[in-house]
Amino acid sequence: MSKKDTVTLIDNSTGKEVELPILRPSNGIPTIDVRKLYNELGFFTYDPGFLSTASCHSSITYLDGLKGELQYAGYPIEQLADHSTFLEVCCLLINRELPSDEEFEEFKNIITHHTMLHEALKRFYSGFRRDAHPMAIMVGVVGALSAFYHDDIDIHNPQDRIIAMHQLIAKMPTIAAWSYRYAHGLPFEYPRNNLDYAENFLHMMFSLPTEKYVPDPFFVKALDLIFILHADHEQNASTSTVRLTGSSEANPFAAVSAGIASLWGPAHGGANEAVIRMLVDINESDHDVQYYINRAKDKNDRFRLMGFGHRIYKNYDPRARIIRKTCHELLSHLGSNCQYKDLFDTAMELEKIALEDEYFISRNLYPNVDFYSGIILLAMGIPLNMFTVIFAVARTVGWITHWNEMIQDPESRIGRPRQLYIGALPRDYPEDRK
Ligand code: CMC
Repeated sequence: MSKKDTVTLIDNSTGKEVELPILRPSNGIPTIDVRKLYNELGFFTYDPGFLSTASCHSSITYLDGLKGELQYAGYPIEQLADHSTFLEVCCLLINRELPSDEEFEEFKNIITHHTMLHEALKRFYSGFRRDAHPMAIMVGVVGALSAFYHDDIDIHNPQDRIIAMHQLIAKMPTIAAWSYRYAHGLPFEYPRNNLDYAENFLHMMFSLPTEKYVPDPFFVKALDLIFILHADHEQNASTSTVRLTGSSEANPFAAVSAGIASLWGPAHGGANEAVIRMLVDINESDHDVQYYINRAKDKNDRFRLMGFGHRIYKNYDPRARIIRKTCHELLSHLGSNCQYKDLFDTAMELEKIALEDEYFISRNLYPNVDFYSGIILLAMGIPLNMFTVIFAVARTVGWITHWNEMIQDPESRIGRPRQLYIGALPRDYPEDRK
């Protein structure tokens, strides 16, 4: 290591110092290795939300929020969106290489033949209230998978891990579609092996015993695109949750269930649902779109435009650019026949005004992926409370690939953050209470 590859930290109160290595990523921001800080200087680091902390090595996804770049295993998301499919992206994320034709056929075959659920799992659904949120059902049923497969999985056996990964990718659409079917009092529709991943999901959502659902090919393509765009996003809250849960060597189904719980929060996976609720509110009010733009700009008003801005992307969210095109194409494909036309007109008006308004331009507040995915999912007839469920179906491959990477990383440890204690000092239990 050259002299340049360290930083020196000096404790000015004692004059003691420590030289910390700088770790160089293959792409992105250099990282200071603080592991010896505690032993040598007796300090922890303070970083709420881990916004400046790299907790692991990863070779899965790279993103640059300032440049607005997102790559899966080095491949730009734009190129994957144009040329790939969700299942091929799954192969890419799992292996960090695009599959050969033969490998891809084998993968598709495995996923297609593992979509069924154990019949006993059906009973878990009936334990829920009919009005249960589908994400609550997802947390429960995916967690319950661990009761079916717990003793069969040796997480230190690579083959066992791959089987668990395949099972999750294959079964998640079935679990998701059935959470919708249960809430609507509909019979569970079994998966069909002649349909591809996105089409099969739509079939399980909407086919009836009395009438087979034949999806608009446009919807199938748009859903596959949504799956691709949401497949991974490096160390976000739900992925970090899966890693942290799995770091104790917990069952992978239980770890993914924890990831689903994290995703459910409105600050993470719920934004596209919030976009539609906002559009409905705007349409039902007596005010025009400009009134809401003005409210969003008003410092004394807590109202924000849902689907605008991003914590990481301070340039255009590359996923938003891709999905915007599909959204516009879909709306013109549906034309005036669409029952949500008024909502979509409002969305397009909002998009236009915000993109031209100095407040939004100067703060880099562009429409994000949720703005457009919410509109597309609604146009496809997906109910609002299923939006985050669809996100969970797509993100499963990311979660489980990160879990697999973590288990293989010789440097990974059981997650155990430190704290800055601000509570009471040691004191004795009162004599009169003994
Ligand atoms: N509408 C109006 N003003 C906004 C908005 C918005 N949606 N977002 C940020 N601002 C303003 C904010 O008031 C601040 O103004 P000023 O500099 O005058 O104080 C400035 O922009 C910077 O805001 P910030 O809160 O520092 O930005 P942030 O990076 O902390 O927040 C955000 C990012 C996503 C939480 C926020 O933009 C937001 O609440 N957006 C709406 C909700 C949403 O769409 N969330 C989905 C995000 S994408 C999820 C994913 O990738 O999975």
